[in-house]
Amino acid sequence: MRGYHDASYGDGFADVYDEWYHDISDVEATTATLAAIVGTGPVLELGVGTGRLAIPLAATGLAVHGLDTSARMLEQLAAKPGGAQVHAHLGDMVNDMPAGPFGLVFVAYNTFFSLLTPERQAACFAATAQRLVADGAFVIEAFVPDPHHDPGSGVSVRSVTADRVVLSVSTFDADAQRAEGQYVDITEAGGVRLRPWAVRWATPAQLDAMAGAAGLTLAERWESFDRTMFGPDSPRHVSVYRFANGV
Ligand SMILES: C[S@@+](CC[C@H](N)C(=O)[O-])C[C@H]1O[C@@H](n2cnc3c(N)ncnc32)[C@H](O)[C@@H]1O
Repeated sequence: MRGYHDASYGDGFADVYDEWYHDISDVEATTATLAAIVGTGPVLELGVGTGRLAIPLAATGLAVHGLDTSARMLEQLAAKPGGAQVHAHLGDMVNDMPAGPFGLVFVAYNTFFSLLTPERQAACFAATAQRLVADGAFVIEAFVPDPHHDPGSGVSVRSVTADRVVLSVSTFDADAQRAEGQYVDITEAGGVRLRPWAVRWATPAQLDAMAGAAGLTLAERWESFDRTMFGPDSPRHVSVYRFANGV
């Protein structure tokens, strides 16, 4: 997608993110499980966005840092109640990760797939491993790609009200493991607003291989943060990586 860069998604969705996505996952189960996983050291969320997870996590008393490429997303975070409790960092989750060290680094809800090449994804594992304490954990929540499902390219309707229509336009490239698209947000007052997104997905096995190259190994895998058992038909996974020789 021409002109798409690492801040495009966040800048494009910041004003609607909480309205559209506040209920995409179980915040209570997520924060409870993350708080139970963290050993020593502070927590870092990669792609913190508006703080949907980081704010309630900080409210448990943990020191929480959040990294995001989008200044608009971080503005939304700072303006929310409790937002000031999250230490916000503007930057890329490969090149600008804060030094740490951290007891827990996590990346939620497919955000890891916003790194658009396997090389960038592997580099993120490496950067994370360099910043974890010995008994630290790296947690990724993501969808499991379905090899039998090719949605092709197309247009669908996300929502329709009397004064607003939101269309979803997307293209898929199964060989490149890439999908990208736009939400086309049409209002009488605002005209047409494009909200772009792009992902490069990876299978759980590919993620495990990247972890291994960074010196990390899979410690636990659930279907979701409520610790539902992961199985062959699970559509999503929460994977916990630790150092093989960690304490
Ligand atoms: C789907 S939102 C998720 C926000 C939050 N983690 C949540 O679960 O609600 C993805 C976030 O990742 C950010 N992001 C995308 N690419 C990034 C990158 N390379 N480095 C840091 N943040 C990135 C976007 O700006 C956006 O705020």
